[in-house]
Amino acid sequence: TLPYAEPYKIKMTEAIRTSTREEREAWIREARYNLFKLRSDQVTIDLLTDSGTGSMSDRQWAAMMTGDESYAGASSYFRLKTTVAELFGMPWFLPTHQGRAAENVIFSALLKEGDIVPGNSHFDTTKGHIEFRRCHAVDCTIDAAADTQLELPFKGEMDLAKLEKVLAENPREKIPCVVLTVTNNTAGGQPVSMRNIRETAELCRRYGVPLLMDSARFAENAYFIKTREEGYASKTIKEIVREMYDWADIMTISAKKDGVVNMGGFVAMRSEELYKKAMSFSIMFEGYVTYGGMSGRDMDALAVGLDENTEFGQLDTRIRQVRLLGDLLDQYGVPYQRPAGGHAIFVDAKKVLPNLPKEQFIAQTLAVELYLEAGIRGVEIGSILADRDPETHENRYPALELLRLAIPRRVYTDNHIRVIAAACRNIFERRAEITTGYRITFEAPILRHFTVELDKI
Ligand code: F0G
Repeated sequence: TLPYAEPYKIKMTEAIRTSTREEREAWIREARYNLFKLRSDQVTIDLLTDSGTGSMSDRQWAAMMTGDESYAGASSYFRLKTTVAELFGMPWFLPTHQGRAAENVIFSALLKEGDIVPGNSHFDTTKGHIEFRRCHAVDCTIDAAADTQLELPFKGEMDLAKLEKVLAENPREKIPCVVLTVTNNTAGGQPVSMRNIRETAELCRRYGVPLLMDSARFAENAYFIKTREEGYASKTIKEIVREMYDWADIMTISAKKDGVVNMGGFVAMRSEELYKKAMSFSIMFEGYVTYGGMSGRDMDALAVGLDENTEFGQLDTRIRQVRLLGDLLDQYGVPYQRPAGGHAIFVDAKKVLPNLPKEQFIAQTLAVELYLEAGIRGVEIGSILADRDPETHENRYPALELLRLAIPRRVYTDNHIRVIAAACRNIFERRAEITTGYRITFEAPILRHFTVELDKI
């Protein structure tokens, strides 16, 4: 047999800037040790996120030329509406400029002060939108997700006992929806099985609570169902996606991930009544209901992106590349959230730097080290991201301190992956020399990680 190769070739390239360690030391100091504050040309390999950073296909670029920029009733809107209805089976949808905007629109229609929203590790913008409305996000992720060395095929799942407890102990009117995030980004890009989706949905139905799927990486989740769950090997990704969404009442999506567009998102639902309620918030926050936050051309590129990225070959290539990074880190002994996730590798910073106190921001310290080592920009998924408790204002220290290395879609080659792994190895080998971390000198009251300023201790 022949070796594996990607199911596409590359038509356009973009130059990468390299830098010296001295340059990087000055730049990161100027950026107050916050990698979000770096200029992208100060970064050699950018693993900050896989969101909006993918390469579009020639078919997507071609679709942009057919974009209809009419204010109302654009044909681009109807093409995207048809794709959403076919792929997810959701008849009502509102385009938004990205995922958090979809959350804003639907939570404005659904949530009221004091409500409780259970879920499997709400993403930070989701939690932000819940807490901003003085509601509570209750995490019902399985405990196993917090043990980075445990190999589980579906490590992002909802703990049904925890969820049932929340549903049973609170009045129905205090729980406007349950959020199931596929894949579970915060737990390491870990998938949720079809069985867990079904059982979560059945529990929700029993309590009369709608199930909302946070769908940023829905296609990667479907790939894991196909390759890991019994009974799905011969189903297509599109069939699996449809079955996943047959269990959901509402979906929000950041289309910047598995839609492979640079900007965009939407909220979709089964209920016309809810759609009518959400419409006003779309018009107020995003735009008229047939474009919301998106240009016509972007809706066309998204319709093609959703269709292409629900083909097995695309997902297989991508997840193989993420796995390659995991395999190389295994060779070098660098600990990460196992098994390798769909969109990223999450290095276990507590295991790399076991002697650094949590008050000095362990994962952030590792993120800065990786930038200094090779100009690679990852992102902290730890106590800076976790924000302060909205009531006590104390720092929240999550069980895991992770350095996320998110791989953009169709952007870097396997050679880049080898550089990333080697840089991690170099830090791992000199980890004993890293004895101090950082303290915060400025922070915003919510979603602080984007703008936080730090100083070396
Ligand atoms: N839900 C999940 C699971 C996400 O991962 C994200 C974004 C959002 C919602 C919000 O979408 O950014 O389009 O407003 N995640 C990005 C990331 C930012 O880097 O993981 P958005």
